[in-house]
Amino acid sequence: DWVMEDFAKESIERLREKIGDKQVLCALSGGVDSSVAAVLIHKAVGKQLTCIFVDHGLLRKDEGDEVEQVFKEEFDMNLIRVNCEDQFLDKLAGKDDPEEKRKIIGEEFIRVFEAEAKKIGTVDYLVQGTIYPDVIESGTKDAAVIKSHHNVGGLPEHVDFKEIIEPLRDLFKDEVRNVGRAVGIPEFLVSRQPFPGPGLAIRVIGDITKDKLDTLREADFIFREEVKKAGISDGLGQYFAVLTNLRSVGVMGDERTYNYTVALRSVDTSDFMTADWSRIDHEILARISNRIVNEVDNVNRIVYDITSKPPATIEWE
Ligand code: XMP
Repeated sequence: DWVMEDFAKESIERLREKIGDKQVLCALSGGVDSSVAAVLIHKAVGKQLTCIFVDHGLLRKDEGDEVEQVFKEEFDMNLIRVNCEDQFLDKLAGKDDPEEKRKIIGEEFIRVFEAEAKKIGTVDYLVQGTIYPDVIESGTKDAAVIKSHHNVGGLPEHVDFKEIIEPLRDLFKDEVRNVGRAVGIPEFLVSRQPFPGPGLAIRVIGDITKDKLDTLREADFIFREEVKKAGISDGLGQYFAVLTNLRSVGVMGDERTYNYTVALRSVDTSDFMTADWSRIDHEILARISNRIVNEVDNVNRIVYDITSKPPATIEWE
């Protein structure tokens, strides 16, 4: 995509002029927008950019290591990975209300980010991966408003900076992906499906434990792996596993089991405001189901979600 290659070149040039010898800070989530924004700045000013990657323990299988590998090893970025799984799980213990879980994670995220930023000292610019649809959605042209409740974190209040930089403000999602490709971000990150800021916390229904998260991570990994093998991922807007808090009776060998139900959710959508459930081939669903019940402990039943949005939402919480 020549247009986006030119955009990348010009954007890097402009950023270099603007930033000069100043320091830049970025909250990197590993999602498409923050990744592309960070790489543009990195190409412009190198180690003057510090990325903070808060690993809250609510990521998908291997995700934290993948992000670290790409940005620290391949791009040689100044990346600080903050491992705070215990801290987040402590705060979340016993909480089963979806909005309360979101609130706890959002607040804790900001706290961790601020604590790390303080260690770095003076920062002049803060990077945000705001894209054009975020700007429109907010209506006020103040993208920070929508990001603060839609993405984990939003704007930290206690970090001193002069100005926010939003290098992707004029781009649509597919353009952002093409800029990402133009600057050499690996395809698995560039073509990644959206992943909510609160992560797996809103895909473990009810209260969260490390065991439940691990169970969900395994089931979700199998689902994604089989989708990839079947070559159908391009057609799917978003697809993931949910660990319901429902247990039911099953049988394994001669034994009665009483284990969790995993729900598979996949939607076709253009804007995530409305969505239809994906008509995934039954044979593919059968393979996924067999693998999950055979390979993942504590799961004995798989259901496929066949509701559209509305009236359901894409996520279960
Ligand atoms: P729903 O479930 O509302 O999801 O149909 C629509 C899109 O938004 C994502 N989503 C979130 N993203 N923080 C986020 O950053 C959240 O709290 C959140 N809740 C839902 C969801 O994954 C889907 O892409």
